[in-house]
Amino acid sequence: MAYETITVEVEHYVALIRLNRPEALNALNAQLLTELADAMKCADRNEKVRCLVITGSDKAFAAGADISEMAKQSFVDMFESDYFTPETDAICATRKPVIAAVAGYALGGGCELAMMCDFIIAADTAKFGQPEINLGVVAGIGGTQRLTRFVGKSKAMDMHLTGRFMDAEEAERSGLVSRVVPAKKLIEEAMAAAEKIAAKSAIATKVVKEAVNRSYETTLREGLLFERRVFHSLFATEDQKEGMNAFLEKREAQFRDR
Ligand code: HXC
Repeated sequence: MAYETITVEVEHYVALIRLNRPEALNALNAQLLTELADAMKCADRNEKVRCLVITGSDKAFAAGADISEMAKQSFVDMFESDYFTPETDAICATRKPVIAAVAGYALGGGCELAMMCDFIIAADTAKFGQPEINLGVVAGIGGTQRLTRFVGKSKAMDMHLTGRFMDAEEAERSGLVSRVVPAKKLIEEAMAAAEKIAAKSAIATKVVKEAVNRSYETTLREGLLFERRVFHSLFATEDQKEGMNAFLEKREAQFRDR
């Protein structure tokens, strides 16, 4: 598929995907999300990719779902198309680790997209918000659920009910982002984190994703059982032998994803 609203570069086993609709601050329309879902599916299958980074521009990661596309829709249109569900399901189905590198606005669907990634690295210019309330609607691709899990009920209610923006410092303090870096270093830092992940056993990184995500889906007891079972199962891999032997032999591990 040829892309018009995103760009994809693969370097050092990392796929760097840039949202690229500068005229609309990377607002998410059907074309962009279809292209993004396709690019992520391809990256998940590509042997030359071991980690993904999604980013936007200096001004905006994404300023939300495209309001001009949504404005004319009826309930039946939204219901019948299940607006953005197939695309976001495909994005969330990516098994390789995905980092969101956020500078500028991450609002509405943009904040929701960042939260679909495995973790968020923010530039000091980042601004997060769920301002759908100002449009007479609410978040529609996970914002009420995921933001609440990230920052707790009180702050999530505040963000959704007032529509205010959260700066990078507050986002880090609240647990929405894993780290804040100077805007000029955002891509460098995100790529460095991605390359570090890319050097690990790909089996183990996929298992980390499954196990951490499981903590959102189940009880503590079931989650602990899941973790124990996948931990045990990793002892069937060559990468476990290699990782532990490399430590004992005081050398770098060479993982082969076996
Ligand atoms: C369509 C958008 C857009 C959006 C910005 N633009 N956000 N177009 N959808 N979400 C367009 C503007 O219309 C404008 O186009 C250009 O991008 C630049 O934006 P400005 O407003 O001129 O920039 P600025 O004054 O710097 O303000 C930036 C901003 C503001 C604070 C981010 O654009 C803004 O409030 N945007 C809307 C944010 C929002 O409400 N997001 C939630 C959407 S609902 P022109 O052609 O005039 O230059 C949502 C629901 C998700 O996300 C659920 C999905 C299922």
